[in-house]
Amino acid sequence: MPKALVAGNAGFIGTHFTGYLLRLGWEVVGVDNFSTGKRENVRIYAGEKNFTFYEMDITEEVPKDDYDYIINLASPASPKKYLSLPVDTMLVNSIGVKNLLDLAKEVGAVFLLASTSEVYGDPLVHPQTEDYWGNVNPVGPRSVYDEGKRFAEAITMAYHRYDGLPVRIARIFNTYGPYMDVADGRIIPNFAYQALTGRPLTIYGDGSQTRSFCYVSDMVEGLFRLLTYEGLDGEVVNLGNPDERTVLEVAKLVVKIYGVPENFTFLPLPQDDPKRRRPDITKAKRLLGWEPKVPFEEGLRMTLEWYREVVDAGKRTV
Ligand SMILES: NC(=O)c1ccc[n+]([C@@H]2O[C@H](COP(=O)([O-])OP(=O)(O)OC[C@H]3O[C@@H](n4cnc5c(N)ncnc54)[C@H](O)[C@@H]3O)[C@@H](O)[C@H]2O)c1
Repeated sequence: MPKALVAGNAGFIGTHFTGYLLRLGWEVVGVDNFSTGKRENVRIYAGEKNFTFYEMDITEEVPKDDYDYIINLASPASPKKYLSLPVDTMLVNSIGVKNLLDLAKEVGAVFLLASTSEVYGDPLVHPQTEDYWGNVNPVGPRSVYDEGKRFAEAITMAYHRYDGLPVRIARIFNTYGPYMDVADGRIIPNFAYQALTGRPLTIYGDGSQTRSFCYVSDMVEGLFRLLTYEGLDGEVVNLGNPDERTVLEVAKLVVKIYGVPENFTFLPLPQDDPKRRRPDITKAKRLLGWEPKVPFEEGLRMTLEWYREVVDAGKRTV
């Protein structure tokens, strides 16, 4: 069975991705520094014979072994987290990525980078295709993440072009589901926590800005196909759900599912907040035969149920 290194395995997507590989019988080595991930997430797999974990900061060291695949999910991902860890975010996406690329080169592993739709910035093209170069403010507050990920993509392609390293890049659009930290700061955990604790739901702007949300099981399946399908070296692929919703619509659905009264607070939009966000997934459909399957209302119900359990159990975070 293949052996994989999953960097950032204690995070939201990493928890699901690790479980997916272990269920297939893969040997998984996880590495995480818990900057935004959770020890509880690592404990889920602690007893599994095919799972090993190293607490390490990948900007400093990486666990060496003869991996077949290296998957890099390590990076603060929510604006709240990366704005509070600005330099760490830039370093994990530069030095951290370089350390993993060097390891992939040394052991001949396929390398998958989790990039982001944020490389498109506040897009002037809608929906976003992979050949759109983006509209990013290089000195704005969000640039620590956006430019960090753009650098991560550039260095990944440099190892591919100049060293022939088999690399694949996933541009991940908003993903949601269980195990996304309740204190993560992104829309769905925020709304869930506020609704469950009787607070008003915070909406930035008038709520007409759009997002498209992909349920995590769909994302994991897309990432796995991009990692393992033949003939995809050097490919950059959008992964996300094109089902576009306004933020206000999401808030209304959350209060409806929880059966609580509509109570919204409107605050100014943060600087450089994208107004529209929707992936064009034509390429993912063509190369991977992949498209999201879980309807938004269904994924949202499963996710809100999980947040209810977390909050009822008195845990602010999991
Ligand atoms: N969730 C989304 O909607 C989304 C959207 C676009 C891109 N992504 C990307 O997918 C990846 C995973 O996102 P997530 O939502 O699971 O985020 P997350 O914050 O839950 O997980 C990231 C993990 O990386 C770890 N990490 C950070 N810096 C590290 C370092 N220096 N050394 C070792 N570990 C480190 C964190 O502790 C955490 O466990 C990220 O790279 C993110 O940029 C996610």
